[in-house]
Amino acid sequence: MARLLIIDDEESLCQVLEIAFRRAGHQVETVSNAEAARHKIDGRIYDVIVCDIRMPEATGIELLEYARSTRNPAAFVLITAVPTVSTAVDALNLGAYRYVVKTDRLIDELKLVVERAVEEQALREENTRLRSELLHAFSHQNIVGRSPKIERVLELVRNVAPAPSTVLILGESGVGKELVARAIHEASPRREKSFVSINCGAFPETLLESELFGYCRGAFTGADSNRKGIIEAAHGGTLLLDEIGETSLSMQVKLLRVLQERRVRPLGGTSDQPVDVRLIATTNRDLKKMVEAGQFREDFYYRVSVITVEVPPLRERREDIEPLARHFLQRFSSAIGRPLHDFDSETWARLMAYSWPGNVRQLEHAVEHAVAVSAPEDRVVRAVHLSAEVAASESPAGMGAEGVDFDREIAAAEKRYLTEALRAAGGVQTRAAELLHMSYRSFRHYAKKYEL
Ligand SMILES: Nc1ncnc2c1ncn2[C@@H]1O[C@H](COP(=O)(O)OP(=O)(O)OP(=O)(O)O)[C@@H](O)[C@H]1O
Ligand SMILES: [Mg+2]
Repeated sequence: MARLLIIDDEESLCQVLEIAFRRAGHQVETVSNAEAARHKIDGRIYDVIVCDIRMPEATGIELLEYARSTRNPAAFVLITAVPTVSTAVDALNLGAYRYVVKTDRLIDELKLVVERAVEEQALREENTRLRSELLHAFSHQNIVGRSPKIERVLELVRNVAPAPSTVLILGESGVGKELVARAIHEASPRREKSFVSINCGAFPETLLESELFGYCRGAFTGADSNRKGIIEAAHGGTLLLDEIGETSLSMQVKLLRVLQERRVRPLGGTSDQPVDVRLIATTNRDLKKMVEAGQFREDFYYRVSVITVEVPPLRERREDIEPLARHFLQRFSSAIGRPLHDFDSETWARLMAYSWPGNVRQLEHAVEHAVAVSAPEDRVVRAVHLSAEVAASESPAGMGAEGVDFDREIAAAEKRYLTEALRAAGGVQTRAAELLHMSYRSFRHYAKKYEL
């Protein structure tokens, strides 16, 4: 069923068309003067607009232009009793969908045209939907977090994505470097091409070389066919060299050559292949120190560190713990069909207090562990579900046989949160107050109390 607007100064034709299309199951509106037509075009969405070319106050061509200027997405079909080549050309150039001559087969022809238009629109919509789903699935929307630090990372991702420059992503293990690399690829013009990643630390030197550059038959014992390397496989797309700090000095020379000459030669090959890849590298090592120590080539370092993106450790962006924990809880509990929808308050306290040396990956595993060991009837994750390591984190509710000094513990916790908020807010007290969900007045009160 389509929504149709029929515009013709000949009211009897409007009526005939209206009846015919209603019978075919469509929604039909008709107008017979230009002003009413403009009003309708402005105010409503139609799938198809059928419009006469010759009318007293305005031509169909003018209305077509008007429809385009208002960004009305309808397929615009022009009909005329007096066809001329020049109006047909004008009409199509201006984006008319079809140009149909009024003959005694007009109704049948229009029915076909409308059907086609609706089908094509449905296809287009489906396409945009699939595209946006795809983009959504891989875009940085997948990067969960709300701390100013992670927002800064996302902003950098957006800014550096369009250019082909090499990006070096720095950060401790498990902070999300690979996720950020994928987000850059997905936000870049190369998103439709491949994203290939290789962990440079996972292969011995010779194997890494044949993985990266490929080989020709007979290049070494066991090379009984030609094989493309992953640099070539990433042609047109993005190549992620994970743990680039683990590459040997001689491998760095080879990679530098690829970056400078944009060509690769497979092992045992006699000619170079041109390649167009965007390189992203990650490391959790201090490359600069490695350069000083002679473990990393300086020229290669400058080449890969044109743009650096630093992903901060989780303990420096504690605001992200909650959304991340919720995100993982949702994922793991729905994966195994558990009705867990939250953590109880003690568990939250422990998750928030823990230092997460293994960063987001460790949090992900901790939640996976908790979900796996929970009982099928549990509705919330409880502290007993946490692994010993995480559960051992200092918890406000932890109490030995001798009891606790309540006032002292609370005061210590207050001071810790205040200090942390001030630090996170870069010293801006109003912002720190916001982070603690308290008024500026209360914040001043506490700040005075603890002499901050
Ligand atoms: N902000 C985030 N939102 C959602 N998931 C995240 C986020 N950061 C990291 N993760 C998840 O945490 C895990 C570790 O991330 P990733 O592999 O990108 O880290 P990494 O920095 O490359 O770690 P390593 O240095 O150990 O290779 C992945 O499963 C990733 O999906
Ligand atoms: Mg990684």
